[in-house]
Amino acid sequence: MIELASGLIYYPEYFDRVAQENLLAHLRDIIRAAPLFTPRMPRTGKAFSVRMTNCGPLGWVSDQERGYRYQATHPETGEPWPRFPPEILAAWGDVGKYAHPPEACLINYYASAARMSLHQDRDEADFAAPVVSLSLGDTCLFRFGGTTRGGPTRSIKLLSGDALVLGGPARLAFHGVDRVIPGTSTLLPERGRFNLTLRRVTRPA
Ligand code: SIN
Ligand code: FE2
Repeated sequence: MIELASGLIYYPEYFDRVAQENLLAHLRDIIRAAPLFTPRMPRTGKAFSVRMTNCGPLGWVSDQERGYRYQATHPETGEPWPRFPPEILAAWGDVGKYAHPPEACLINYYASAARMSLHQDRDEADFAAPVVSLSLGDTCLFRFGGTTRGGPTRSIKLLSGDALVLGGPARLAFHGVDRVIPGTSTLLPERGRFNLTLRRVTRPA
């Protein structure tokens, strides 16, 4: 593992190919039950370029009317989110190093042209817990900076199977995805990239 900045820990090749295929099979099941939806920006209603779904007790959603939030049900089907695959909980325990379980796993799908502008993950009540990110499929150019907007940033490539932890002083680091580099992985027949971010949402009692 490599500490890219204080609290920002990179685990290249965290999942080998077999583990990636296994996790992908879980994702397919999750998406069958909880289809990818297109989130929209608060107020403007502009569509995100990623599509998303979630698993776990809570899921992150966003729409024009009610903005960013966590909720227990899929915004289109109204069903509870599918449960966490055990491998996700294992990764949280292994690299997250936090005493309480995660409550949400946001699953973003990036088609070739999708991107994610610089932002902080701050819709959670508990910033003591890290955010654990897992990547599958095509390589992306991931950008990160400090905790103030407009500060200096760096980029790294995140490859299929890589894990990244935003914890401690990096928990509120600005981050985003400049672009996906098409055709860099053979994992997804449809191309593109999945990113899973595991989060603790509520403060443990
Ligand atoms: C996110 O910040 O929600 C996603 C980051 C990534 O796709 O690597
Ligand atoms: Fe994020």
